Amino acid sequence: MKLVVGIVRPEKANDVLEALYRAEVRGVSLSRVQGHGGELERVETYRGTTVQMGLAEKVRFEIAVSDDFVQPTIDALCEGARTGHVGDGKIFVLPLDRAVRIRTGETDHGAVTPVDKR
Ligand SMILES: Nc1ncnc2c1ncn2[C@@H]1O[C@H](COP(=O)(O)OP(=O)(O)OP(=O)(O)O)[C@@H](O)[C@H]1O
Ligand SMILES: [Mg+2]
Repeated sequence: MKLVVGIVRPEKANDVLEALYRAEVRGVSLSRVQGHGGELERVETYRGTTVQMGLAEKVRFEIAVSDDFVQPTIDALCEGARTGHVGDGKIFVLPLDRAVRIRTGETDHGAVTPVDKR
């Protein structure tokens, strides 16, 4: 299992959700975050003071999936979020040790988007 984290433009969040739905990825968390891509700071001078430009508003997707769903999830994030301009976002894939569905007590592959649901 993996936790796929995608940080995308807020205005592309709905497109990502639709792409994930088409890919039959079920189960997703979204949060608003502020971020910086690490590009060189834009600097403005105001009355002699150097001001570093602020952080960008982004939406962070967290999607726990079985291994076979990792690539479809990445593809859906790219398809939904890409404009081709700087700031489109990033995707990180993290190892995921455990998952539990609280209602049923199902664990791991039974508790995330499972391969056998495809
Ligand atoms: N190394 C990183 N670690 C954590 N979050 C990151 C990292 N890089 C980018 N992000 C997050 O992703 C958001 C979008 O990043 P962004 O798309 O600007 O990446 P980039 O590497 O600068 O690519 P681009 O050149 O396309 O702009 C950032 O605002 C930040 O929230
Ligand atoms: Mg950037």
